[in-house]
Amino acid sequence: MAPIDSKEIQKGLQSKTLGRWISYFKTTTSTNDEAVRRAQEGGQEGEIFIADIQTAGRGRLHRVWESPKGKNLALSFLLRPSLSPASATLLTLAAGAAVFEAVWGFLPEPIRSTLKIKWPNDVTLEGKKIAGILTEMASEGGRVDWVVVGIGIDVNAEPSDFSPEVRQIATSLRTVTGTEYNRNLVASRLIDSFEHHYRTLNEKGPEDLIRFCEKHSYLKGRRVSAEENGKQVIGTVLGLDPRGSLQVKTDDGTICNIIVGDVNPLERS
Ligand code: BTN
Repeated sequence: MAPIDSKEIQKGLQSKTLGRWISYFKTTTSTNDEAVRRAQEGGQEGEIFIADIQTAGRGRLHRVWESPKGKNLALSFLLRPSLSPASATLLTLAAGAAVFEAVWGFLPEPIRSTLKIKWPNDVTLEGKKIAGILTEMASEGGRVDWVVVGIGIDVNAEPSDFSPEVRQIATSLRTVTGTEYNRNLVASRLIDSFEHHYRTLNEKGPEDLIRFCEKHSYLKGRRVSAEENGKQVIGTVLGLDPRGSLQVKTDDGTICNIIVGDVNPLERS
């Protein structure tokens, strides 16, 4: 399996800002740890931190992110956007859109049509998770100081590489296609695509991104169970509001905007 090679990744890039600096780690606790450390030391917009092995990869809500050695992609972006802290969800969605495009390009039909963005931070294939995003940030005086967007994509992992619990809910490019992929190429496509969505968001606002995420949404139109302010909400997903919150219409006609939390469909796909 080809090792991660930052020069190879950069050779494949068209991006202008994201990926100009790539720091590679054979082993680290978490690429988000590396990116956060650099952010606190004054690191610059667009720096990327990538690792072959994460010993303490983490996900949302303090979950463990399993990274089988040398098989998948684990990378984090350091960003310094001029967005309000309340718009941070949009960066997670921009990363989701970028993962979607990068992975889509490697899939044959008809599997392609099963690729979906699952609000707020997952990408799914054939109903199973193929990628996750962990966004962390620091703000001061109502302004974002830095944002770290960490992305994990299951590229070449096989079911036996995961724990029994994760095996039930996760998949990989290799599992569904039977082919092994060059992770450097997947990373280059991901970085280029993220730059496109990030730039559009900064320069034109969230409309294009919202439309893209709604078009490829795993949840839109489905009946779901969600949690809002500690209260369970059951209803049908209408789409996203301009801040990237999930809009759910409950049976009494109330529209709830879900800002954070887990949302699960009530029926199978
Ligand atoms: C989730 O599914 O809850 C998010 C998973 C995010 C995993 C990525 S892998 C690269 C970066 N480093 C981490 O420790 N987490 C993110």
